[in-house]
Amino acid sequence: MCGIVGYLGPKSVDSVLIVGLTRLEYRGYDSAGIAVLDKNEIVVRKEKGKIKDLEELLLSHPVEGNVGIGHTRWATHGEPNRQNAHPHIDTAGSTAVVHNGIVENHHALRLELIDKGHVFHTETDTEVIPHLFEQYYKELKDAPKALKATVDRLEGRFAFVLLLDKFPDRLFFARNGSPLVYGKGRGESFLASDVSAIVPAAKEHFHIENDQWGWITKDGLHLHNGTSEPLPFELTRTQFDVKTLDRGGYEHFMLKEIHEQPGIIRGIIQNRLNDEGLVTLPEMQLPNDFLNRVTRCIITSAGTSWHAGIVGKFYLEQFARLSTEVDISSEFRYRNPIADGETLVVAISQSGETADTLAGIHQAKAKFCRVLSFVNVTTSSIARESEAFIDLMAGPEIGVASTKAYTAQVMSLLLYAQFMGGIKWLGSKEDRLAILREIRLLPEKMERILARAEELKHWAHELRDSKDFVFLGRQHNHPTALEGALKLKEIAYVHASGYAGGEFKHGPIALISDQIPVVCIAPRGELYEKMISNIEEVRSRKGRILSICTEGDEMVRSKSDFCFEIPECPDYLSPLLAVIPLQLFAYYSALERGCEPDQPRNLAKSVTVE
Ligand code: AGP
Repeated sequence: MCGIVGYLGPKSVDSVLIVGLTRLEYRGYDSAGIAVLDKNEIVVRKEKGKIKDLEELLLSHPVEGNVGIGHTRWATHGEPNRQNAHPHIDTAGSTAVVHNGIVENHHALRLELIDKGHVFHTETDTEVIPHLFEQYYKELKDAPKALKATVDRLEGRFAFVLLLDKFPDRLFFARNGSPLVYGKGRGESFLASDVSAIVPAAKEHFHIENDQWGWITKDGLHLHNGTSEPLPFELTRTQFDVKTLDRGGYEHFMLKEIHEQPGIIRGIIQNRLNDEGLVTLPEMQLPNDFLNRVTRCIITSAGTSWHAGIVGKFYLEQFARLSTEVDISSEFRYRNPIADGETLVVAISQSGETADTLAGIHQAKAKFCRVLSFVNVTTSSIARESEAFIDLMAGPEIGVASTKAYTAQVMSLLLYAQFMGGIKWLGSKEDRLAILREIRLLPEKMERILARAEELKHWAHELRDSKDFVFLGRQHNHPTALEGALKLKEIAYVHASGYAGGEFKHGPIALISDQIPVVCIAPRGELYEKMISNIEEVRSRKGRILSICTEGDEMVRSKSDFCFEIPECPDYLSPLLAVIPLQLFAYYSALERGCEPDQPRNLAKSVTVE
């Protein structure tokens, strides 16, 4: 995905755009650029690389003006270089665009426009937008009509903002699928991919809906869709704690967010679990009489959220006796699942904008399934297109590698499973109180783990030259193994594979040598002995053992090259504890290997393209 921002007002637009783009950099950081109306001429400044590279360019090539647009890119079409960086302009240089999404029919449009004399300079799908607008404006001599005509020709998901040299007091926009928010300040107006880019200046905001288009002036919003009459809209008072947008004294957002986890879990518990162990989910608007009839659940999600979904399966089957499948979103959306009105589809997404997960929701609704989503952004596309949602309440997650959202997802799924068990009259009051006691002990146990972060820094230093890792876990910690491997891959660029411990001897064990460290997640619990067998299998083949075990487990410690102890807890809570040392190991491994943890190469915070 990409980040887009637009501004109209009294301030120097370049500095406003740079601040906004910096806030959106988590959405993509392959290249960045701005277009400004400088003395009634559109001036573009863009650069390969990050916002700081664009800032350096602006120092040597400054611009002046009060209206402009900006973009930070995660490349979809065309390599990440200066030429393909946004903004893109039309043939005459009178129209500039910044765009988030994909124009699926860009090739046909490009050929049509070239036939009409338009000259293209990039490999991007986006470049068809300014040329198409230029063509329609020439034919219709009316900017809103030309905008509507342009939007009607585009296929795919998009949000874009246009700067026109003929309209210095406006910015034009359109939204279909990718997020776009309007912000109203004092004598100034904003457009952005999310509200974090425009606070605190935007005192009120409005989330533009799909199929809406229009323009902003420094005094307000002019909103349209298919009809010719302007649409009414209601501004929402912007309540956004800007403090969440700084590192809070940590070197990276990822480290801050790892350390935020105890507080977030504490908040979720306090907000959702009462003293009788009963769960309340006030925002979840599915009626109990429907939920009582649900016979089957399909969880669809991607990446780390898919790992959370696997844990969720254990919870829903264990505490709600609900038959549950878990699908990777990009598979679910194409497999034409057997599902009907009694099937509940659960989408899990931190960003709420993952294209494959959103497409799966459309697939589910086409089969008349009801959809519940677990999201961290309650104004996101997935939240809005689900019948109901559960707010992860994890606060903005800026680090591309998901950490606090993961444990918030797992905790939220556990509480949802308790909620479903409750409406099915499963479990006794004693059971509920016992679970309540264990859950309430979690935040302090997480804090005890975080207090020993230095041990994981040592692991990372000692293993800084290892080229490949295996992670093993069973049942609730099979997804922990998958998650630990993914974290290492995505921020330290080290190949790692996660397997169910029982699967190890069905092939992966062939990998083992003294060059392959094996992370064994072996807390005391139902399958503890089975994990000991895995450890022995690795040792007998001279593999190096990195174990995550329960405090005081001298036996595992004696069999391990590296051993990290976590506090005792029931099986079903161990994923919430065992993942933390693995998050820290990945983070410190990234630093040891000279990688940038918050903005790993080739990644973006949310994959809003297929
Ligand atoms: C997690 O660290 C990754 N950044 C990625 O796998 C992510 O979990 C996945 O893209 C799903 O994102 P979502 O939760 O926003 O849908």
